[in-house]
Amino acid sequence: MTQDELKQATARAAIDYVVDGEIIGVGTGSTANFFIDELARIKDRIKGTVASSEATAARLAGHGIPVFDLNEVESIAVYIDGADEINARGAMIKGGGAALTREKIVASVSKQFVCIADGSKLVETLGKFALPVEVLPMARNAVMRRLAALGGQPKVRTKAGSTEAFVTDNGGNIIDVAGLSITDPVALETQINAIVGVVAVGLFAARGADVCLLGTADGVRKLE
Ligand code: 5RP
Repeated sequence: MTQDELKQATARAAIDYVVDGEIIGVGTGSTANFFIDELARIKDRIKGTVASSEATAARLAGHGIPVFDLNEVESIAVYIDGADEINARGAMIKGGGAALTREKIVASVSKQFVCIADGSKLVETLGKFALPVEVLPMARNAVMRRLAALGGQPKVRTKAGSTEAFVTDNGGNIIDVAGLSITDPVALETQINAIVGVVAVGLFAARGADVCLLGTADGVRKLE
């Protein structure tokens, strides 16, 4: 099976976690896109969605699925999203698609977090994937120095084919921190969150996934 077929299989399996008549939180990325396409088939069963990025909102709307502003919604039954890395305890690195801040906000108000990923995303120790950190642009270099002091190699993410800093949906920049071996994800999340100028860190450990559906050649494997 190709990586895309594995992602699609987990996206299909995630439909079982959709709660009828409720608001569903929807993540960002290629796996989340497969989920959106599956959700379109059963869109009449749900009240609507909250999107974690402009790209996700556009894809949902393109399928005729209602998209609510988070401020209009009191609770979200389930949040379904991909990950760049996940460990067996449900802690994740996210933000490869630059949507980490909104993903974290939507996840934080969701009753259940279901992570969907192909099996290659499961790791023993988080950190091989460079850790994304969203920052306010004026604090970029100051935060980079603090992240370097933590032992990582921080690099500003640039726009494709350009040397200009990439700008997120929130007007922030992304610093990708390579070279970290994250043995205590909750502690590092707390430490990076405390750096002034950081908007959000792509470590989802304090609030990790409740369920992870991993696409493997032998079928969809469930970790919880
Ligand atoms: C976006 C994310 C994505 O969930 C993560 O990058 C995984 O993406 P994909 O499903 O394309 O592998 O965190 O900010």
